[in-house]
Amino acid sequence: MKNNLPENFIPDKAFLFKGVPVYFTDRGSGPVVVFLHGFLENKEIWNDFAEALSSTNRVICIDLPGHGKTGCLSYVHSMELMAEAVYLIVKKLRIKRCKLVGHSMGGYVALAFAEANPEMVTGLCLFHSTARADTEPKKADRNRAIQVVKKNPSLFIKETIPNLFYTTKQKPRKRLIAKTIAIALKTPKQGIIAALEGMKIRLERELIIRFAPYPVLFIIGKHDKIIPYESLIEQATLPENSKTIVANCGHMGFYEAPEKTLAAVKEFVTE
Ligand code: MLT
Repeated sequence: MKNNLPENFIPDKAFLFKGVPVYFTDRGSGPVVVFLHGFLENKEIWNDFAEALSSTNRVICIDLPGHGKTGCLSYVHSMELMAEAVYLIVKKLRIKRCKLVGHSMGGYVALAFAEANPEMVTGLCLFHSTARADTEPKKADRNRAIQVVKKNPSLFIKETIPNLFYTTKQKPRKRLIAKTIAIALKTPKQGIIAALEGMKIRLERELIIRFAPYPVLFIIGKHDKIIPYESLIEQATLPENSKTIVANCGHMGFYEAPEKTLAAVKEFVTE
């Protein structure tokens, strides 16, 4: 401990995007990898991965708009708007090329970034994420979710988070669920609604992975209730250069199957 801070403490930094500070951490040196968290999460979820990879890579973890310490920019946070915030950070740090690792909604943002800035991307990891758009029933679910969030955001969070995990009698995952709920409860109501609106209108981006000139890594949860295994296995055949890791988990592989998923990401960012 120095100044009461743990030795591996990494201070948050921020750049202004449309007048709102967008927070991120920046650690390590080497080829750059940018980590993007999912819905109701923040950059903290990547702490263990960032720590482990910072011996070989420069690791940037960003709080996307309306999540973590980053405030809200609008009533709709489209994936393109979030990708613009990511671009701003990367540009301000004078990073020319990077790999992107996106968990779920973070993967949708990574795809929007890759579409807008193909020359900057050296690899894309869809970590329980899909290049497909929402189906009509999924859009209707989002509208229902928005109504619940307007009335009672913490009820929405407490009902949503357990669904992200694969639980059995032997593995009820109570501590991980509680930890994830605690992170999610930090998300402001407007941030939750703006992300739901943004995910609902997101574009289908299979072309981005089909013609990706860089490696695409799919990390898939065998028991993912949010993004079905079968649809991801189909998408994983699209890129010319792709690798697929299937873990025995739900939607939260970095917590549920940390060794397997970290090993896959490590290989991806160091190859
Ligand atoms: C996420 O984990 O980021 C979201 O659940 C993704 C989604 O709802 O499509």
